[in-house]
Amino acid sequence: MKIDPWSSTTYQDYTRLRDEFGIEEFTENLWKDLPHPHKLLRRGVVFGHRDFQIVHDSVMKKKPWAILTGLMPSGKMHLGHKMVIDEVIYYQSIGADIFIAVADIEAYATRGNTLEETKDFALNEYIPNYIALGLKPEKCHIYFQSKNQDVKDLAYLLGKKVNWSQMLATYGFNSSTNMAHIMSPLIQTGDILHVQLEKFGGVRPTLVPVGVDQDPHIRLSRDIAQDHRLYNVTVTKDNRIGVFVKTDENINKLLDNAEKTLRSLNFTKLERITNYKAIYIRDAEEKDIQKIDETLAKLEPKLGGYGFLQPSATFHQFMTGLTREKMSSSKPESAVFLTDPPKEATKKIMNAKTGGAVSLKVQKKEGGKPDECVVYELFLYHLIEDDEELQDVHLSCENGERMCGQCKKYASQLMEKLLIDLQEKRKTARGKIKQYLS
Ligand code: TRP
Ligand code: SF4
Repeated sequence: MKIDPWSSTTYQDYTRLRDEFGIEEFTENLWKDLPHPHKLLRRGVVFGHRDFQIVHDSVMKKKPWAILTGLMPSGKMHLGHKMVIDEVIYYQSIGADIFIAVADIEAYATRGNTLEETKDFALNEYIPNYIALGLKPEKCHIYFQSKNQDVKDLAYLLGKKVNWSQMLATYGFNSSTNMAHIMSPLIQTGDILHVQLEKFGGVRPTLVPVGVDQDPHIRLSRDIAQDHRLYNVTVTKDNRIGVFVKTDENINKLLDNAEKTLRSLNFTKLERITNYKAIYIRDAEEKDIQKIDETLAKLEPKLGGYGFLQPSATFHQFMTGLTREKMSSSKPESAVFLTDPPKEATKKIMNAKTGGAVSLKVQKKEGGKPDECVVYELFLYHLIEDDEELQDVHLSCENGERMCGQCKKYASQLMEKLLIDLQEKRKTARGKIKQYLS
């Protein structure tokens, strides 16, 4: 199996994804002590992660960290698109610096949209909705890939340590893939890593919340971040902890600086072996590695490197379309758009495929199947905040007390409220866009 970020496949075998690609399970201990954990985290919609622990630590210790995510706007924004931004808004409320890339270069390269088209979609549809949903302008930067010189420079410069066979193995490109498309994963790597440049806040943990189709880009960015480091801190085969210089230039200077840093961290039993480009730390333990690594990473920009920490990621499940196919802008009946008139949304919900039984009689007797019901998904992802109420819907559906007609009506009412609220807030959103653009 290969994950293709540009296909319309939905990847749903989450256990297999975790096993095959080394995505880790997003377990309760990762979210339960965060401030007011978001419903998408509590309810398992976010099902997997890479390296979330370091972000968790930053939140708990109130240290700086960043969110970077991107969007390829195409037409109207629907409930599936809302989900990512709901996560972003939550992370903003618990202290993250926010960066959002409008992927106009990617859309141009992979979908054939012009830069102008993408700009229109972003300015007229996506960003006003982000603002209406509650994204705040403080510590928030929305930018266009095509206008961000630092992102484009990084794409080019970081490409130095990726070779063609790696790109082929990851993306399955072939000899007729156009070059702009081939560059687009590097542009995305530029997006993800540029937030750690000095002028964007410096070296710090960065979380990229995405759907699992984006995992190849996450792996690439993590590999590239690692490959450009000047230092590597690790446990050796004979169980020693060592700092190793990874380049062949300025070895002595790099070792001097590492030594100074280690002493400032109160390690004293240092054994320097210049031939191995190494400093062994006799009084360090495995649990010290992360701190040593972070401290050295922050030093690297002063020594001619980047010091990029490997970006973390979370992966969310996608909502099913109301018709049970993929939720898609090109199939209006499969999606509720944030700009749908409430009556229109109600019509779509009333026509949605539920997990109800063949007849009322059977449903009363045998119950419905909320886990196979898109109306239930609406509650779970968007419409019901209170976990107990949600659980009650689940239970009363399963035990046959709840019938689909009523249930859909309730969902429609909640949806109408949501849409009217957004409608209202969008009115003032347009005038605020400038505050978000960098
Ligand atoms: N490739 C993403 C998509 O298809 C958009 C994107 C561009 C992105 N840059 C990013 C996502 C950086 C996460 C991080 O939707
Ligand atoms: Fe879905 Fe509600 Fe019907 Fe249960 S009762 S299957 S949750 S619509």
